Order: sequence, then C-alpha cells, then structure tokens
Amino acid sequence: MIDFSKAEPFKIKMVEPIRMISREERQAALERAGYNLFLLRAEEVYIDLLTDSGTGAMSDYQWAGLMLGDESYSGSKNFYNLKNAVEDIFGYKYTIPTHQGRGAEQVLFPILTKHPGAYALSNMHFDTTKAHVELAGGRAVNFVIEEAFDTGTYHPFKGNFDLEKMEAFIQKEGVENISFILITVTCNSCGGQPVSMANIRAVSQLGKKYGIRVFIDAARYAENAYFIKQREEGYADKSIREIVKEMFSYADGFTMSAKKDAIVNIGGLLGIKEDEELYNLCCARTVPMEGFITYGGLAGRDMEALARGLYEGLDEHYLRYRIGQVEYLGKRLLDGGVPIQYPVGGHAVFVDAKKILPHIPYYQFPAQALANELYLDAGVRGVEIGSFLLGRDPDTGENLQSPMELLRLTIPRRVYTNNHMDVVADGLIGIMEKADRLVGLEFTYEPKILRHFTARLRPVGR
Ligand code: F0G
Repeated sequence: MIDFSKAEPFKIKMVEPIRMISREERQAALERAGYNLFLLRAEEVYIDLLTDSGTGAMSDYQWAGLMLGDESYSGSKNFYNLKNAVEDIFGYKYTIPTHQGRGAEQVLFPILTKHPGAYALSNMHFDTTKAHVELAGGRAVNFVIEEAFDTGTYHPFKGNFDLEKMEAFIQKEGVENISFILITVTCNSCGGQPVSMANIRAVSQLGKKYGIRVFIDAARYAENAYFIKQREEGYADKSIREIVKEMFSYADGFTMSAKKDAIVNIGGLLGIKEDEELYNLCCARTVPMEGFITYGGLAGRDMEALARGLYEGLDEHYLRYRIGQVEYLGKRLLDGGVPIQYPVGGHAVFVDAKKILPHIPYYQFPAQALANELYLDAGVRGVEIGSFLLGRDPDTGENLQSPMELLRLTIPRRVYTNNHMDVVADGLIGIMEKADRLVGLEFTYEPKILRHFTARLRPVGR
C-alpha cells in the first residue's frame, strides 16, 4: 500500500536559499543580540521557527492574484472578492479588512468594552489580544481547562473552556461587568490546542443565556476544524467547509489574523455576522485606525491574495499534510525523549522546558535558555512562551510565574520539509544529554512593557 496521505500536496516552483553560518558566528550573533532571538538578523538563522505568522509560502494562484490588484481607494473589486469569500465560507454579512489581526482587535474591542475594568473572557487571550483588551480599559481573564497545563497527558481538546468556572465568574462579577467572550481557535498560548464543537456550542449557549456577545479569534480556525473532523464524534464524515460553517454559526463575529490559516504575508479581517449597528460602529473606527472600509490598511492586491488564501487554507489535503508535518516533528521529539505538549497542536510543537531544565528557576527563564542553546547547536530559532514573555506584576514589580515554560517551534506553512524537521529534532535531542549543564539568564536591559521583544540578557554567572 502506498501512503499518500502525508505527502506534500504541491510541488516547489521557486526556492529561497538558506545558509548555515559557523558556530562561532552564531555565538557572536547571539551575544550581539543580547541572548534574545528576536534581535537576531534573520540571515543568521538557518531554520526559522519563530512564528507561523506571515511566514507561509503563497501559491502560484495567490501570486497571480497580486497582479490583479485593483488599487482604487474605495470599492476595489478585490474587496468584493474578499467579502464574497467571507460570506461563502463563514456565512457572515459584513467584512472589514484590516492590516493584520491586531488591527481588527483595535477596531472592535473599544466598542465592546462596557466600562473601565470590565472583563473580556477567553479560553486564553493571545498576548497582543490581551494588550488590546487592556488598552481599551478592560481586563482579560482566561478559562481554559486545567488539562491544558498538564503537557504529558492526552486530551483531544486542550483548548476547551472550563464552562463551570466561567459561568461561576459571570454570576459572581455580574453580567454588566462582562464585555464579551472570545473563543481562540486554536488556542495558541497553550500549545495550538483545538476547541471542540461541543465546547464552542456550549460557550455560545452560555453567552445567549446571559446576553453576552461571543466572538471568535479565528487565526487558526481551519486547523481547529481539521481537529474536530479527526477527533470529535459525529464529524468524521463532514467536510471542513461544513465544520467551519457550523463553528462560526455560534458566534456574533470574528477577528482574524489572516497571516496564519489564510496563508498571506500580511492581512487581517473583522467579520460580523448580521448586527448592522455593530458593523456601523466598527466602520466608524476603521477609517481613522486602519483605512477606508474597503481596504482597511491593505493594498488591493493583498486582499486578492487573501481571498484566494482563505480557500487554500481549508483544503483537506493541505490540512492533512500541514498537521501531519507538526505531528512528524512531535513524534521525532517524543521518540527521542524530549517532553512536549501532548498531543501536538496545529501550528507548532511546544517543548516543555520546565521538565528538561528543572534546575533553572522561572525567573531565569528556562525556555529561553533552551531556545538559545538550540540556536547555537542547530541554527534553529524557536520562541519562548513562558515567564520571560509573561512579564512582571504591575503592582508589586515581581516577576510573574507562568504555569508553563514552553519553547514553541512554530512551523511556517508550506515552507520547510521534513528533512528540516529532522535537523530541529536532532538538535533538541542532542541538548537533552547536556541539559543539566545549561544555565539560566538575567537581564542587562529590561523594558517595562512587552519586554520579551527587546530585552537584553546574559547567562547567569557570566
Ligand atoms: N490572535 C492569535 C491567536 C494570534 O496567534 C495572533 C498572532 C493574533 C491574534 C494577532 O494577530 O499578529 O496578525 O496582529 N500571533 C502571532 C504568533 C504573532 O506568533 O503567534 P496579528
């Protein structure tokens, strides 16, 4: 039997050379970057797993679409192609393009925030999403199930909401203090973990019961739909398109970073199901924040690539290959004794640095130490998702302790082959043998907000 299922459903038409620099050069680059991989030059990286955002490879059909850009200031035909795609795929009446996901957040959240200090509830807010809730004067609270924090134990939908906990919170705080609920699919911050259809439906019912509006953070909605098809009873025979329609039928609107599942290098969307009043309020903010409502910060050509990418990201052969590659890396790591968030998520393998480096305390950032070692050994750039990213308590100034210390190995779409994944796996497996000799990090420069992007560090004791 020939197994075609995991093979790439594309062939490669254009290549971008990458180059491995010497270990000495990598050491010098890391020191120059203050032991913060965000501050490297991309050319100093061999395999770049910093993010899956805007790093995917567009298809020839998307590139061809770029040549059909209608750059009219208003009413561009590419906008209508995009709007039709949103109506067709999600069943939503209103579409506002934005420059990327956070553009949609900055338009929508201030409208939804009921008063200063009112809550936004989510399974887990992504970091810029939390920042936008707070910039709008609100407070972001997470209700993901406890199983999400137990990396070693299987659960098919670790991105699910703990509904009881969320309902108790709503009753305690009062509906007047809850602005909205945001379902993040997949749940990036806990490992790209999916949310089940049953859970999405139940969140929607809870929202209805209390009169709270429900939105979807749709960055990785197609990968979430694929997991529902694979893992949830009753969905094996449904198409991805049918599953997506049902998922979005339970929400009032969505914000989307199109740089992920819509496979474009830049772009975002705000979708509103039918609420005309909300749409009008959003339009009024879009014009000064993003641009006129038929371009929202995007060139006409970018909207065309996005309209086409939305469909490509939903292709089942593509999704099988895509998730298959993440699973491939996950399996190689598990077989090599590297602890990871299990099962793997949709866009990345999350390595459990707390288990690998128990001797490094959270305030010396074990996952960052692991990320740096992987860069030195293999030229691979991952990203820390742990206490370094979390920051300090604004009141006490103490370093906050993240429940998990993770190294995210984020796989760009249609970019790397499994030979590249082998380099990543061999690099990490090699580090396991010398893990007890790795040391933590301390600040030489620490900015007050979003410190992980620009902070400078040095190994403790050096
Ligand atoms: N929501 C989620 C779940 C995200 O993962 C991101 C971005 C955003 C919103 C914001 O979208 O970047 O287009 O403005 N995540 C990227 C990442 C940056 O690396 O995970 P954006």
